[in-house]
Amino acid sequence: MSLSWLGLVLGPQLQLGSQAPEMNDKTGQLYPQARAGTAQQGREVYRANGCFSCHSQQVRPQGFGADIERGWGVRRTVAADYLFDSPLMVGSQRIGPDLANIGLRQPDANQLLVHLYNPQITMATGQKSNMPSYPYLFEKRKLGRTISPDALKFPSGFAPEAGYEIVPRVEARVLAEYLRSLHAEVPLIELPSITPGTNAVAETNAPAAAPTNAAQSSATNSPAK
Ligand code: HEC
Repeated sequence: MSLSWLGLVLGPQLQLGSQAPEMNDKTGQLYPQARAGTAQQGREVYRANGCFSCHSQQVRPQGFGADIERGWGVRRTVAADYLFDSPLMVGSQRIGPDLANIGLRQPDANQLLVHLYNPQITMATGQKSNMPSYPYLFEKRKLGRTISPDALKFPSGFAPEAGYEIVPRVEARVLAEYLRSLHAEVPLIELPSITPGTNAVAETNAPAAAPTNAAQSSATNSPAK
């Protein structure tokens, strides 16, 4: 009992408990940066709606599953990525894709909002989304003389009936800002092999061009030729 307390509570606390943002030599900025206030509010909407029950926010290292190959991240997640997040919502199930880097995959707020309004809309024809829709985060308004500037822009065939528009409520807008704030691409000293903004690791199946990828790719990828 006391041994497990030492191992599971005290050990990690000693290692990580005093972690603070550090200057990143590649970007010249502190990492991590706190989320903007709107994104922070959106985090509460994410929490209130239980999004974490289907979505994880944790990219596993190469060799422990195919997260990076799937395009869920450009590097594995480290403790520092969560420094400003409390409570943590790493999630325990992956009914939907990992969202640790959804802000890199889908930076377009309108796309994120249309998907929340009705996930079916953004699916390829013939495919069905298992994600629930969140219509109560939106307001269906009778059109005034002009369309509201923040009304959703739908792909053809999905717009509401003539004379109406769908406008995101504050909850939906801040939730989209939170999703856009989810990205961890800054290279870190302990993870030097990954080029920011590219999926360098996933692309290293071919003989590595960049010298920094070489060791990792030959160690973890397809049988050596
Ligand atoms: C019942 C499980 C479930 C819940 C709850 C859920 N999702 Fe999803 N989500 C999915 C599934 C399955 C997909 C993949 C199909 C799709 O894109 O609609 C998905 C896809 C997504 C995507 C697109 C991911 C990508 O890689 O393109 C985003 C963004 C997203 N969900 C956000 C949310 C948010 C925000 C909430 C809470 C308001 C939420 N989800 C709640 C199951 C869920």
